[in-house]
Amino acid sequence: MSAQLASLHSGQASLVLECRNDGPPLWRHLGAQVEPLDLAPLALGRTPASFSLDEDVPFSTAPPSGLGWFGPTCLALRQNGQRLVPVFAQAEVSQTEQTIRIVLSDPVSGVELVQSIDLLAGGAFCFSAQVSNRGAAAVEVEWLASALFPLAASSAAIVSWHGRHNAELSECTEPMPQQAWVREGRRGISGHGGPPGIVVLNEGASHHAGLVHALQLAWSGDSRIAVERDDEGTWIASAGAVFQPGEVVLGPGASVSAPDAILAVSTQGRNGAMAQHHAAMRQRLCWPTGTMRPRPVHLNSWEACYFDHDEDRIVALAQAAAEIGIERFILDDGWFRARNDDRAGLGDWSADPVKYPQGVKPLAERVRAMGMEFGLWVEPEMVNPDSELYRRHPDWALHLPGRPQPTARNQLVLNLGLPAVRDYLFAALDALLREVPISYLKWDHNRDLAPAGGQAQVLGTYDLLARLRAAHPDVEIEGCAGGGGRSDAGLIPFVHRFWTSDNIDAVSRVPVQRGFQAFLPPEIMGAHVGASPAHATGRSQSMGFRAAVAMPGHFGVELDPRELNAEDRAELADWIAVYKSWRPLLHGQSTWLGEGPDGLVWQAAGTTQEFLLFAIQVAPQKNRRPQPLRLPFVADAKSCTIELLRIAGGERGHAAHRPALYDAAQTFSGSWLAHAGLPLPPLKGESVAIFHGRNSA
Ligand code: GLA
Repeated sequence: MSAQLASLHSGQASLVLECRNDGPPLWRHLGAQVEPLDLAPLALGRTPASFSLDEDVPFSTAPPSGLGWFGPTCLALRQNGQRLVPVFAQAEVSQTEQTIRIVLSDPVSGVELVQSIDLLAGGAFCFSAQVSNRGAAAVEVEWLASALFPLAASSAAIVSWHGRHNAELSECTEPMPQQAWVREGRRGISGHGGPPGIVVLNEGASHHAGLVHALQLAWSGDSRIAVERDDEGTWIASAGAVFQPGEVVLGPGASVSAPDAILAVSTQGRNGAMAQHHAAMRQRLCWPTGTMRPRPVHLNSWEACYFDHDEDRIVALAQAAAEIGIERFILDDGWFRARNDDRAGLGDWSADPVKYPQGVKPLAERVRAMGMEFGLWVEPEMVNPDSELYRRHPDWALHLPGRPQPTARNQLVLNLGLPAVRDYLFAALDALLREVPISYLKWDHNRDLAPAGGQAQVLGTYDLLARLRAAHPDVEIEGCAGGGGRSDAGLIPFVHRFWTSDNIDAVSRVPVQRGFQAFLPPEIMGAHVGASPAHATGRSQSMGFRAAVAMPGHFGVELDPRELNAEDRAELADWIAVYKSWRPLLHGQSTWLGEGPDGLVWQAAGTTQEFLLFAIQVAPQKNRRPQPLRLPFVADAKSCTIELLRIAGGERGHAAHRPALYDAAQTFSGSWLAHAGLPLPPLKGESVAIFHGRNSA
């Protein structure tokens, strides 16, 4: 007797479910690719366990919480103040090569749950879920998991990220929990810990090899990701948006959808999982012309002049920018009415009559006449109490009647759940985009939500962004929230870049950018050359090190070029030219991350045929001589020619020896590079060796 299966196979991984007519499908496998053949039904192999229910309740896609399933739930419902326990006695499973669709119905309560799993190009699985009320009475939804899935008993560790403003994406690794591990966001935005996501490493998994499950939720608000040990010795992962109590009440016929959860199951280590996530994100990105064009070099005015600007000062800055090769000039905060500091003006989206008496249109035209695109900073979801908008509509800010309304950076949050607020913001931004030749908006969000806005706030923001994108499809948008406080897949359909961090110190940026790329691709990672000393940390770094660290991302400059000495200015112009010549290889391709000996970290970008390799030495080396750097990603190349393009940083003072070996390109077999390693030149602290590799077979 063989089980009836539904399965998806990515080439690396398989997802196998056992279908039943009278209940949700059972989980059989989620790991390395398998050939199920004639698999016996799960029931034949499950012996009764002591102190268990007489009827076995194995793990399914929608296990019956409250009726024999004691693990985490995919659905928590309430009706008339009482817990509502759906029993999905009817199940229909349909499948194509790319999709499994599961329709579960409870004829007694009228609750219907539809779960879909799509196999995406690139190999990741995308989970989605929708619950509908087909009954006659209202149903409150307390929790709807986007995904609920098994993690094998061989799971070894959880990698996740936490962070704060100016210190995003600190990576931490913890052993699998003996009870439960939870990452829950309650700030109303995805937060400075980066996308809501986790990476689970199986025993022995590394960047380059081994079984890895990596999950990210496409959601920009509160979320919960949990990993719980069950008493059968394995773990169960769950992920979903967190609803506010009473927020989601479904009247008869109504339904609610969970945000998508994207799960990469990789047998090629963390880099394999990262590649699947990058592919999934690239499918979600909506470029103005349908495809990404080379990412233009930015100059952002913020750290060059903060709030202190007017048309003359900005024109002078733009001229200096154009001279070094900048392609897009972004006028940051401070351009609108009453905005001389962070105490006033948010909400009133017209130019300040003192700083810009003719509006920003003449400035935008002058910037464009210099051969650059013009971009503008906005923070639409916010309002200062000191603004015309707030004076007219104090009730438009999120508030709980009779309760405190805490400000942050002197601002409150507009209630995007209100259609009138969205209409006002659409009209204000639409008017700006119609009047001024703006090709780029930097869309900021500089505070946590208190009180919470719930999912209505997130969906309202998506709705506003979607309307603007539809009305102005050529305008690109950068997502920002005090640096990287809201960089997530939920926003990806509407934005084209994220501002990674307000901390532009290149030493700080190295781990931040590695965390960012775990889920999001480098072409949407804003990466700027900032001033030295860095404004966020006070530390100084060479121009070469700052530029080389920024180069793999969407490159930009955030300083006043006129304040650089002639040597640094010329060097920055050179780096801009270097970035322009290599960006086709850096973006839209593969990325590999790895670690070398003596504190070195590396990143390669491109293809196995041609790539750039950045070997980054942050702290000074402790060993007498550098050890070779193993590059597993080229293991299959017959021969690979590698040239040292430059060593960035460490130029000043006592010169490091550059051995004669690096005067010419060298050819190695892929197996040599993977297992013996690329010989490295000595590197000082805060320096980057950049190599160009080509498959020469
Ligand atoms: C946030 C952003 C900065 C800048 C300021 C302006 O902090 O992250 O880049 O735009 O707001 O107020």
